[in-house]
Amino acid sequence: MTARVIDGKAVAADVRAKVAAGVAKLKRETGILPGLAVVLVGEDPASQVYVRNKGEQTKAAGMRSIEHKLPATVSELHLLELIGDLNRDDGVHGILVQLPLPKHIDSGKVIEAIDPAKDVDGFHPVNVGRLASGQHALVPCTPTGSLILAKSVKSDLKGLDAVVIGRSNIVGKPMAQLLLREDCTVTIAHSRTRDLPAVVRRADLVIAAVGRPEFVRGDWIKPGAIVIDVGINRVPADGGKTKLVGDVAYAEAAAVAGAITPVPGGVGPMTIACLLANTLEAACVHAGLEAGAVGVV
Ligand code: GUN
Repeated sequence: MTARVIDGKAVAADVRAKVAAGVAKLKRETGILPGLAVVLVGEDPASQVYVRNKGEQTKAAGMRSIEHKLPATVSELHLLELIGDLNRDDGVHGILVQLPLPKHIDSGKVIEAIDPAKDVDGFHPVNVGRLASGQHALVPCTPTGSLILAKSVKSDLKGLDAVVIGRSNIVGKPMAQLLLREDCTVTIAHSRTRDLPAVVRRADLVIAAVGRPEFVRGDWIKPGAIVIDVGINRVPADGGKTKLVGDVAYAEAAAVAGAITPVPGGVGPMTIACLLANTLEAACVHAGLEAGAVGVV
């Protein structure tokens, strides 16, 4: 079998087009222009690229992009004060503080300072708890994007055995919650899981989010399974160059799976698309429209 390649770029473009249409409708009907504030602390090159892309795509969707760039030496208090200002600003509907933060800043404290209604990352304990208890929540973007890609292959995931490899707060745990909500039987595997290959071999749906290049091998994959690769790892390539690979050994897995996401071009483009969708959602709720009315995700 050769797997169907899931085109994350195309699916993400579709989500962005729906967001842009929703933004135009919200503006027309309420006069509200959704605004997304992104806070970047320090000069990490990868974070700078993410933040630039976020800004560009926010504007392309017709929303207002607000960027705050602070030096790596900024105090925690100053950052918390900025978040307080953004919480009170009626023109800001979404707030994202780019992670990781410098070591002298407590990221838990920073995340908790964000108004849960503006927490478009879905990292605030209120949103984490709402998702876990089945209430409406702002949901982390990478798991949402991964779910949309899985559902682009099979719209009804009910009863599937899903294995999530990785237990981070950003991906693994919320991913498991989303799959439970889809009526999957969910296993969260991690670095201490015994006989990981055997656990993964049971899965109809594999979500790999371990952050280790080509860690998941082809002979771990059940024939016909859907494989969603969340990893983005830069590794040495020929000629002294580097290349991006996922957490899954792509060629091996593609020979066995039913469908698989490539890296790059799979989950990556979905994250910002879902961030835009969350910002529109937050703006709609702010406007007094029903939660979930956006219908993008
Ligand atoms: N750094 C890497 N991924 C993310 C993300 O999804 N949100 C934030 N805030 N920072 C990140």
